[in-house]
Amino acid sequence: MASFIERVCLHLLLVLSVSQSITQAVDRSNFKTCEQSAFCSRQRSLKPGQSSYRALLDTLELSNSRLTLQLLNNNNKVRLLLELYRLQGNMTRVKINELKPIKPRYEVPDVLITDPPTEPMSVMAQDEHGVVLSLGGENRRLFVNAQPFRLDIMEGPKVLLTMNSRGLLAFEHLRIRKDTISHKITSTVGSMWDKIKNVFSSSKDQTDTEEDGKTEDMEKNNEDEASDGAEEKKEKEADQPGMWEETFKSHSDSKPNGPSSISLDFSLPGVEHVYGLPEHADSLRLRNTDGGDPYRLYNLDVFQYELSNPMALYGAVPVLISHNTRRTMGLFWLNAAETWVDVSYGQGSDEASQTNVRWMSESGIIDVFIMMGPQPADVFTQYASLTGTQSFPPLSTLAYHQSRWNYNDQEDVSTVDQGFDEHDIPYDFIWLDIEHTDGKRYFTWDKNNFPQPKEMLQNLMNKRRKMVTIVDPHIKVDSSYKIHNEIRSRGYYVKNKDGGDYEGWCWPGNAGYPDFTNPEMRSWWASMFAYDQYEGSMKNLYTWNDMNEPSVFNGPEVTMHKDALHGQWEHRDVHNIYGLYVQMATAEGLMQRSGGMERPFVLARAFFAGSQRYGAVWTGDNAAEWGHLKASIPMCLSLGLVGISFCGADVGGFFKTPSAELLVRWYQAGAYQPFFRAHAHMDTPRREPWLFGPDNTALIREAIRQRYTLLPYWYQQFYHAHRTGQPVMRPLWVEYPEEIATFSIDDEYLIGRDLLVHPVTDEGSTGLMAYLPGNGEVWYDVHTFQRHDGAQNLHIGVTMSTIPVFQRGGSIICRKNRVRRSSSCMENDPYTLYVALDPLGNAEGELYIDDGHTFKYETDKQFIHRRLSFTSNTLSSSDLSPDTSFPTVSWVEKVVILGAQKPSAVTLTSDGRETSVEFEFDPDTAVLTLRKPDVKAAVNWTLQLH
Ligand code: NOJ
Repeated sequence: MASFIERVCLHLLLVLSVSQSITQAVDRSNFKTCEQSAFCSRQRSLKPGQSSYRALLDTLELSNSRLTLQLLNNNNKVRLLLELYRLQGNMTRVKINELKPIKPRYEVPDVLITDPPTEPMSVMAQDEHGVVLSLGGENRRLFVNAQPFRLDIMEGPKVLLTMNSRGLLAFEHLRIRKDTISHKITSTVGSMWDKIKNVFSSSKDQTDTEEDGKTEDMEKNNEDEASDGAEEKKEKEADQPGMWEETFKSHSDSKPNGPSSISLDFSLPGVEHVYGLPEHADSLRLRNTDGGDPYRLYNLDVFQYELSNPMALYGAVPVLISHNTRRTMGLFWLNAAETWVDVSYGQGSDEASQTNVRWMSESGIIDVFIMMGPQPADVFTQYASLTGTQSFPPLSTLAYHQSRWNYNDQEDVSTVDQGFDEHDIPYDFIWLDIEHTDGKRYFTWDKNNFPQPKEMLQNLMNKRRKMVTIVDPHIKVDSSYKIHNEIRSRGYYVKNKDGGDYEGWCWPGNAGYPDFTNPEMRSWWASMFAYDQYEGSMKNLYTWNDMNEPSVFNGPEVTMHKDALHGQWEHRDVHNIYGLYVQMATAEGLMQRSGGMERPFVLARAFFAGSQRYGAVWTGDNAAEWGHLKASIPMCLSLGLVGISFCGADVGGFFKTPSAELLVRWYQAGAYQPFFRAHAHMDTPRREPWLFGPDNTALIREAIRQRYTLLPYWYQQFYHAHRTGQPVMRPLWVEYPEEIATFSIDDEYLIGRDLLVHPVTDEGSTGLMAYLPGNGEVWYDVHTFQRHDGAQNLHIGVTMSTIPVFQRGGSIICRKNRVRRSSSCMENDPYTLYVALDPLGNAEGELYIDDGHTFKYETDKQFIHRRLSFTSNTLSSSDLSPDTSFPTVSWVEKVVILGAQKPSAVTLTSDGRETSVEFEFDPDTAVLTLRKPDVKAAVNWTLQLH
C-alpha cells in the first residue's frame, strides 16, 4: 500500500501533470536530447572517416542462402559476426552481432511473421580486397569490401546503397566493468547477474549454461586484446561517461551490462527524399538532422507535444523509405531499444545528390532488412511480407467515433446518444475513458456512475451502436483488486532491478506493470476479456489501450526504468515493443471471447513495427490548434508508409478548446482520415457536434455524413490493405513516383488510388492551392463534378462547407447515399456507383462486401468481390473471386457517370434479360445519371450506353 505521503505526492503529481499540460507546451527538459543520452552522444561523437572494421575474408562461409564472415575491430581486436541473407522478394538482410558476446544480446522476437524465406546466393568473384555475391534479378550484386569493411548493393553499374561507407559502424561489445575485473566476477556486475539469474533461473536454464561458458571466453578475449596492445584503447572505452551508469534529472540508470550500443551508416546515392520513422510531429519528408538532434525512436508519453521537431513520441517504427524517380527502397532496422536516426541530405563523392542515414541503438544487435523496391508498391509488399499487413477492421470501426474524457455516467451516455439522433448525425461508437472504472481499476465499472453497464450496452445495441472502454496496462497495486492479485501471485509483473515487482505512478496511483513480453502473461491477459471475466462486458464492447509506452509518471522521461527486468531482458532491450505486446494481447482477448469468430478492435497509443496486425493507433495528445490539424496529415501518412494504415488524430484537438471554425475544419479533415474519432481532455468544455449553433452543427453533420456515404470505399481500401500491405492513406508520390512535384507534398493525399483530399487547414481560408497529379489524367470534384486536368496546381475557392476532394478519372467508387444512424443500420442499403471516366472514356473499380465483422471472409470464403469496369460505353460487373459467396440483398440503385456524353438509350442486361434504363444527362457538367437500374450487387450485369 502506498503511504499517506506517497498518496499526497501522487495526487499533486497528477493534478500538476494534467493541469500543466493544459496550459503549457511540452517541457523539453523532461526528455533527453541526444547529447543527454549517453550512448547517443558517444555514438554521435564518432565522426565519419575510415572504418576501424576489417572483414576477415578467410572466415567466409557460404551455405546456400547465408553468408557469414567475421569482422575485426582493428582498435580493440573484438570480432563481430556478419550474416548476409538474400531474401525472397528482392530483399537483403544484414545481421551483425558480437562473435562471442559474454551473454546473449537481445534479438527482437514476434515482429517478423515468419522466418523470412531465403534465396540462393553465390560468390561471383573473390580476391584479397573483397567478395562479390550475386543477388539475382537485374544483375544485382553485393560487394563486401574487406579493408575498410563496407557493403555495396549494386544493380548494373549503379550503386543503390552502401553500408558503412562513412565508417560509422560501431558496436560496443559487452564487457565486464574495469574496476570489477580485479574482483573477478564477484563484485557489482557479477552479483547483479547472479541475482538476476536466481530470480529468473527457471526461464533461462539454457542461457545460464551459455553464459557460464562465456565468462571464460570473455576473460580469454580480454587477454587476447591485452596481448594485442589494445589495453590503452580499452581503458579509454571504459572511461567514457555514462557507460556504466547514467543519471537524468533525478533518475539513475544502473546499467549492469555497461555499454552495448550499436550504430551503422547507410548511403543512398541519387536520393533526395526519405520518409518514414514514425512517430514524429513533423513533415512527411524527413528533415536534415545535421546541426540538430537526430530523429528519436523511443516510445514516450509526451504531454502537449511540439510540432516540427524530431523528439520521440508515443510510438516507434524503425523503417525509413527512400524515393527518387527511378527507385523506392526501404530500410527496416529491427531493434526495439532506444534508437536515434540521423538524416543528412548532401552530395556523394561524384557530386551527385546522396542521402546519408545513420542508425544508433542502445542495445541489441544490428538486424537490418533492405527492401529494394523498385516501385513504392513493391516496398510495401516487401515490408508486409516481413511484418504482416493491417488487420481487417470491423466495418463499423471505420465509421465515426464519439469520445471524451469522460462521459460521466450512464445518463450522460444516453443523452449524448440521443443527441446524435435528435440532430440526425450518425455515429457508431461512444467511448468511455478512465473515469468509468472503479478507481482506475481496469476491467471494472464505477458503481455509482455505471451501475448497469449491460443495460447501457444493450441500449446501444438496440440502436446498432457500440462502445469502447479503456483498459490501460498499469494495474493498481491494491490487494482487494482481483486483477492485481492474480498478476502478482502469478509473478507476471515486470521486475525492478533488484528482483521485486516494479512499481510506478500512473492514473490509479501506485501501479504494477504486467510483463507483456511474457507469452504466458499475454494469454492470461487475453483471458480477462472473456464475458464472464470482464463483468458488464458484451459483444458490442471493444477496447482502448492507452499509456502503453508504458507511461510511468514518476519514471525517467515519464516511462519505465531501463534497468527494470522482463525475465532475462532489461527494459532497455524491449522498450519500444512493449506497447505492441499490450495491443497484441488485448486483440487476442477480444478474439477469444467470441471463440475466434469476431474481428477485434483495439486502439493503442504506443506501437512498433508489426503493430498494424493488432488494430488502430492515434496520434495521442494533440492540441486544438491549426498546426496540429495540419500535422495530423503527415503523421498518419508516415504511419501508412510503414504498414500502419488505421491511423487518426483526436478530432478537435485533445488539449485546449477549438474555435467553432477549427472544430468544423477538423471534422471535415477527420472524415477523410482512416480512424475518425473526436476526443477531448476532461478540462475542456463539452463539444458534442450540436453545441456550436445550427450552422456549425449542419457543417459537422455534413462532414460525418460524407464519411458514411463513403464507407464502402473505405472498407474496400482496408480489405485491400489487409490483403496486400498497401497503405490506405497515401502520399501522392506513391501513385505518381516519377512526378517530382509530388515528393514533398504533405497537405494533401490519396485514399487508395482514386480519391485525392486536400483538407482546409488554415484559419479563415477562402481558397487554397491543390496539386492534381498525373500528366494526361483528369480529376473530378466530387461535389460539383467539375473536371480538371492532372499535373497542375489548381486554385480552389473555399467556403466553410468546402471539403476539397477529387475522384480520379478512370475510377469507379461505390457509395451508400442513404445515411442512417449507424453504419450497421446501412448494411443492406443500395449502392450508388460513381464512374469517373478517364480521357479515353474508361474506368475501373471494385466492390467488396462481407458481413462486416467476422472472420468468415477468411475461414468460409464468405464475401463478394466484384470488378466494375467501364469500357466501350459499357459498364459491367464481374466476379473477382468466383469461389466465394455472401448472401447480400444489396443492390445498385443509381449510377452516376462523370465526363459522359449523352446516350440515346441505356440497356441493362442481367440474368439473361435485357431492360431499358431511365437516364438523365446534364450537358453543363457532362454527368449522366442512370436511375434505378435496380440490379443486385452480387450478380453479373452490364449496362450499355447506346
Ligand atoms: C492520455 C490519452 O492520450 C488521452 O487520450 C486520454 O484521454 C487520457 N490519457 C486519459 O485516459
